[in-house]
Amino acid sequence: MPENGRRPMMAANWKMNKTVTEAERYIAALLPRAADSGGVDVAVFTPFTCLSEAARMAEDSEVLVGAQNFYFEDSGAFTGEVSAPLLLDIGVGAVIVGHSERREVFGESDETVAKKAKRAVEAKLLPVVCVGETKEERDSGGMWDKISGQTKAVMDELGGDVSGDSVVFAYEPIWAIGTGDTASPEDAQEAIGQIRGLLRETRDDSFADSVRILYGGSVKPENIAEIVAKEDVDGGLVGGASLEVESFEKLIAAADGQKDG
Ligand code: PGA
Repeated sequence: MPENGRRPMMAANWKMNKTVTEAERYIAALLPRAADSGGVDVAVFTPFTCLSEAARMAEDSEVLVGAQNFYFEDSGAFTGEVSAPLLLDIGVGAVIVGHSERREVFGESDETVAKKAKRAVEAKLLPVVCVGETKEERDSGGMWDKISGQTKAVMDELGGDVSGDSVVFAYEPIWAIGTGDTASPEDAQEAIGQIRGLLRETRDDSFADSVRILYGGSVKPENIAEIVAKEDVDGGLVGGASLEVESFEKLIAAADGQKDG
């Protein structure tokens, strides 16, 4: 455990990839590695179609299986949506909320994202809430407005009772996602440190010191160690480099090595 007391997390976001057969092979290979990853929480966010099998395989293991999205109502006339109780029913333990692809391609607003985060926490489904700026926002000086607005919307909706270990944030600059253009470790630390500072101001020390904030955006085995070595960076949310289990295992090992003690 790092000195700051926050257990690092390495999270795979498969996006719209992998059949059930491919998922089975991956999870089977990952389980023994994750059992060995003592100091790191390992999460895999699969497509809906793989969740049931992945969660069954990962039951009683070190691997947390999560969905990439859900809807904040529990049941009813919401064609095409999946709710927290439906995910819990098949053993899912976490969910990505407000990924930039959901926000940009599917039009999810800050308000919707905040409601999803709240419902996930209530349902004891660990939300990984994504925030981040576009290249234009960064270049025009609007970066912090964007990130702080996204973060505050979620914190306002969560209310005062929520503890820091019931939610995870991920800082994912949109220009770094899937582009190979990773944020420098200094940029990642600066943004994540600022987000933690905002959580300290708007909530309190105990929340800010215990909540985990991951970095996401073109994380690779070659760059992860330097990024997670930064004080405020508590791990990674990884797309492309998580699709091969060998590559994801290297990321887990790097995070384990860097944050150990
Ligand atoms: P990437 O995606 O690692 O492929 O950049 C990260 C993400 O979108 O979560």
